[in-house]
Amino acid sequence: MSPITPAFPVTRLRRMRRTPALRALARQNTLTVDDLIWPVFVMEGRDAETPVASMPGVMRRSVDRIAKAAVEAQNLGIPAICIFPYTGMEARTEDCAMAWDANNLTNQAIRAIKDAAPDIAVMTDIALDPYNINGHDGFVENGEIVNDRTVDALVKMALAQAEAGADILGPSDMMDGRIGAIRAALEADGHANVTILSYAAKYASAFYGPFRDAVGASAALTGDKKTYQMDPGNSDEALRLVARDLAEGADMVMVKPGMPYLDICRRVKDSFGVPTYAYQVSGEYAMIQAAVQNGWLDGERVMMESLLAFKRSGCDGVLTYFAMDAARVLRG
Ligand code: PBG
Repeated sequence: MSPITPAFPVTRLRRMRRTPALRALARQNTLTVDDLIWPVFVMEGRDAETPVASMPGVMRRSVDRIAKAAVEAQNLGIPAICIFPYTGMEARTEDCAMAWDANNLTNQAIRAIKDAAPDIAVMTDIALDPYNINGHDGFVENGEIVNDRTVDALVKMALAQAEAGADILGPSDMMDGRIGAIRAALEADGHANVTILSYAAKYASAFYGPFRDAVGASAALTGDKKTYQMDPGNSDEALRLVARDLAEGADMVMVKPGMPYLDICRRVKDSFGVPTYAYQVSGEYAMIQAAVQNGWLDGERVMMESLLAFKRSGCDGVLTYFAMDAARVLRG
């Protein structure tokens, strides 16, 4: 020890961790109800709910039940709800025409939510997979997912959702050029104020498995989505995608999945400083819930910690199946 080294640690970082009050004062990031977007599954029927086996605590709901759930979410102060339709093989065709039908499940749900809970923002998913005979997000020709013809269909889907009253459109298909095409069509069609939250950096992930069960896509899907969703080994490409989608007219961008890709969230936020969201996807939810059900993890604490991590990584919010539970915890 040199003679000027004091006999005590000058920097005692534990001082600021000593009491709850000091920890609260020093805390940099917090989760609030404003950060939550709640994904929900809508199905045919009336006054009906069925549980999703691979996602304990998650239900598919008929349109009227979705409207009720939206009222509960609104009462908790959750700012947005995101609709996914559950579709059987009978709704699926080669031409995917149900995707832009004014009366499809999504569009019915948009109208019902807007009626019942006018203050909650309604977000949608734009991709052909719920209505495609082969479960892909785009048209398949000779075994290939074709880009430009798919974009034309996505534009029709977007306009039908905007017409039904959606506040936020969520293109999740990963085709090239779809944000620009959708933005131009919205402008031309009197929907200049509809926002787009682009699934800009969406990876070809194994964590979507339970979702594909929830929406009925597992049985339909042939092959994988690796020719349009991102390779999990890539990071720079996420920045190119975000830059491109912003230039084409996206208002917000998403990284998906969430927890395994927090590095991407941080890079996106630091590089662009735009509203950035992550999707804590079905497999992330399922893996936490499975451990909780086994008594291996403390459900509430792990839920809150996992969601706070998104804030720390730079996200402005998170799509999460925990939204209602987390909101209840935050509201005390
Ligand atoms: C499809 C879509 C998927 C998810 C959201 N939109 C699945 C996929 O790309 O196959 C996954 C969400 C989740 O796993 O929670 N357009």
